[in-house]
Amino acid sequence: MADLSREVPIRSGLYDFHKGLGVFVIGLLLWRILVLLRVWWKKYSRRTPRFSTAWWRKVTLHSLLYLFMLAVPLSGLFFSNSFKSSNVFFLGMTVPDLFSENEARVDLGRSLHFWLSYLFLTVVVLHVFQQRKVVRAIWRRWTEFLTHIRA
Ligand code: HEM
Ligand code: HEM
Repeated sequence: MADLSREVPIRSGLYDFHKGLGVFVIGLLLWRILVLLRVWWKKYSRRTPRFSTAWWRKVTLHSLLYLFMLAVPLSGLFFSNSFKSSNVFFLGMTVPDLFSENEARVDLGRSLHFWLSYLFLTVVVLHVFQQRKVVRAIWRRWTEFLTHIRA
């Protein structure tokens, strides 16, 4: 999308789709965080966790994933709003501006969105690598299921 020239007719549609999907992701994420806070409250108001190294490591890693999940679409909004106000749409509605239009911040917004996105991708790849046993188990279950329905 970002590499397409302005003459390509679907370019603008792809941008709108990308931005709308990002807004949808923010919505899902806020919902997820709310659910998670309720789960935490239920669990930790009964007993405090054992603050072991393993616990801290897990909380830090998971928080990092959540931080990126929020920072990436937010930086996209910052970039898009700085470029032009009322420039983001979701289900035919204009999403209210979170940041003001400001030409001087466009390049910063573009760089932030770019680097945060690819840094996030790296963290996700590391996370999936760390969970490779789970990936293998899911893969095994799928192949077994497919051979079962073919037989
Ligand atoms: C093949 C892909 C993936 C697999 C197999 C996988 C597997 C897992 C597993 C097994 C856990 C639980 C870990 C634990 O309790 O120690 C977990 C937690 C988590 N994963 Fe993934 N993951 C995948 C992709 C992703 C992606 C793409 C993201 C982010 C966009 C992500 C974000 C998280 C977060 C935030 C947690 C923390 C727990 C939670 O909030 O429920 N994961 N993942
Ligand atoms: C989970 C959410 C999002 C992810 C993972 C994501 C990821 C990306 C990636 C990987 C690029 C390509 C960067 C490049 O290679 O040049 C990009 C470009 C872009 N994103 Fe996002 N994005 C998200 C949400 C958003 C949101 C919410 C907006 C705005 C409302 C947005 C606006 C843009 C724009 C305008 C570009 C084009 C950059 C350019 O033309 O240089 N993104 N995004």
